[in-house]
Amino acid sequence: MPTETPTARRFRDAEEIIEHLRGLGELGSVEANGFSELDHGLQTAAILREVAPGDVELQIAGLIHDLAHPWDGPGQPRHASMGAIAVRGVLGDRVADLILSHVPAKRYLVTIREEYASILSPDSVMTLAAQGGPMNTEEVAAFEESVDLQAMVDLRIADDGAKVPGKIVAPLSTYEDAIRQIASRHTAS
Ligand SMILES: [Fe+2]
Repeated sequence: MPTETPTARRFRDAEEIIEHLRGLGELGSVEANGFSELDHGLQTAAILREVAPGDVELQIAGLIHDLAHPWDGPGQPRHASMGAIAVRGVLGDRVADLILSHVPAKRYLVTIREEYASILSPDSVMTLAAQGGPMNTEEVAAFEESVDLQAMVDLRIADDGAKVPGKIVAPLSTYEDAIRQIASRHTAS
């Protein structure tokens, strides 16, 4: 897993996260024209609602997994760790770790499933090299030790299927209360 640096940006509460997500609706995704960063997150969350209807934390992690894209540079080598740092204090360790895992999960799936690289978007293939490329045997073994392995894999597969310009899915308002509830659970504990 990438390390987290102490100087990174951090959200203070759920409202700041929701506001940031609204802003992502104005930001074009690198994946396609007329397709915003928010559209990508919403499509990821919509897939996870079907795959794991009872796992709201996973759905929210899917919604926000790329929220640090505007802060990272070419190849997006740090956006997963930047996003995890930014939300950990508000949404807790599980959501943050799921965000952190979506880049290693791509490296893992490319390594263990021969056909997986063929479903990656051209941009995802391009960023793979900057993100470390396929895993070696030790990295695969370590990743498979993750307690949340299935959710990490589910999020990554949803991510790769969530790049369909024009596809209509549930809007951000569907998820806002869930973000607030996760935040209140986390800050209350
Ligand atoms: Fe993504």
